[in-house]
Amino acid sequence: MATEPVCVEDFQKIAEAKLSKSVREYYNSGANYENTYKDNRKAFGRYKIRPKYMRDVSNRSMATTILGQRVDCPIGVSPVAMCRLAHPDGEVAVARACAKLGRCFMLSTMATAGLDEIEEKAVDCLRWFQIHIQKDRDLQIQLVQNAERAGFKALALTVDCQVYGRRHAEMRSGFILPAKHKLGVLEGLKSRTGMSEEERKGGWSNFLNNFFSSSATWDDMRWLKTITKLPVIAKGIITGEGAREALAAGADAIVVSNHGGRELDCVPATMDALREVVEVVGDRCEIYLDGGVRSGLDALKAIAMGARAVFVGRPILWGLAHAGGEGAEKVLQILGDELNTGMALAGASKISEISRDMVVHKSYYSSKL
Ligand SMILES: Cc1cc2nc3c(=O)[nH]c(=O)nc-3n(C[C@H](O)[C@H](O)[C@H](O)COP(=O)(O)O)c2cc1C
Repeated sequence: MATEPVCVEDFQKIAEAKLSKSVREYYNSGANYENTYKDNRKAFGRYKIRPKYMRDVSNRSMATTILGQRVDCPIGVSPVAMCRLAHPDGEVAVARACAKLGRCFMLSTMATAGLDEIEEKAVDCLRWFQIHIQKDRDLQIQLVQNAERAGFKALALTVDCQVYGRRHAEMRSGFILPAKHKLGVLEGLKSRTGMSEEERKGGWSNFLNNFFSSSATWDDMRWLKTITKLPVIAKGIITGEGAREALAAGADAIVVSNHGGRELDCVPATMDALREVVEVVGDRCEIYLDGGVRSGLDALKAIAMGARAVFVGRPILWGLAHAGGEGAEKVLQILGDELNTGMALAGASKISEISRDMVVHKSYYSSKL
């Protein structure tokens, strides 16, 4: 491409040409026949923006708070495993980009950078730590304590991944973590150090299925809340019933997410699921959304429908693959610029002015025919 990328799709094209086949397939694929993966993206097209006219938008701000913490823009980074497969600077570069732009960064338990490394190298970054319920409770406690010590401000408990999803392309290529990479968060723990050679050769999906607990229940989330003072976010809810259960187990916030369509296929797109979750939750906790967000206008739509913030997964990997930290920063910058311009054109000068009546489902128009 002769010119610099101007939107997330440009980054995707560049990244797809640059990444090795197995990494590209690991990053980009969805579960089974990818119904949900594709629908996450399409769903945003089903919602239309109804602008307000002739508002004074000369003085705009995208600043808001999430769980009481200030961000300069409500578009943050979802936890994605193994960012160093995209670029050697990996998660550190992403956290630095978030620090620079005032965004929230979620670090995956399966990151190639460690918790302390993020603290040392991106000290100003608002950081949350993603965890699963693990088979080994001692290890779980160590991870939580390490995250607290390293200045992470919330725990995002992934609730939609009891077992590893079936991603065809990844299964065909038999994805394994390349030997030169380490799982930074798991290095140097008391009860284990990273991933053993045997585990590495056994393949990524086997490793995760052995590592995480498939018997986890909401009681485990209740237990988690007893071992930490950090807020606990339930990541991966797409039903009203799920939201009710998460609240009953003490969730401090909810991420409407289907894991980017990587786990259970044929579930609704996150944008379609948002309304139901918002109706059940009301103002009892904050709701965030990820899955298929590829533009600032997607963010505007989700915020109008009740999300406090949105997060992106793959776009950050594409930015990293293109130009390391600068690429990740550019992706976040573009998404923010798109939201900013979208707000101006829709008549909102601050996030709280993005109102529910600014978005309708497209059936609103066909029902008028
Ligand atoms: C390569 C990759 C790795 C991921 N790793 C994790 C993970 O370790 N933990 C987790 O909770 N979610 C993980 N996710 C899901 C993301 O947190 C997020 O829900 C999803 O990527 C959002 O969709 P998007 O990629 O369409 O933006 C991963 C997603 C991708 C693409």
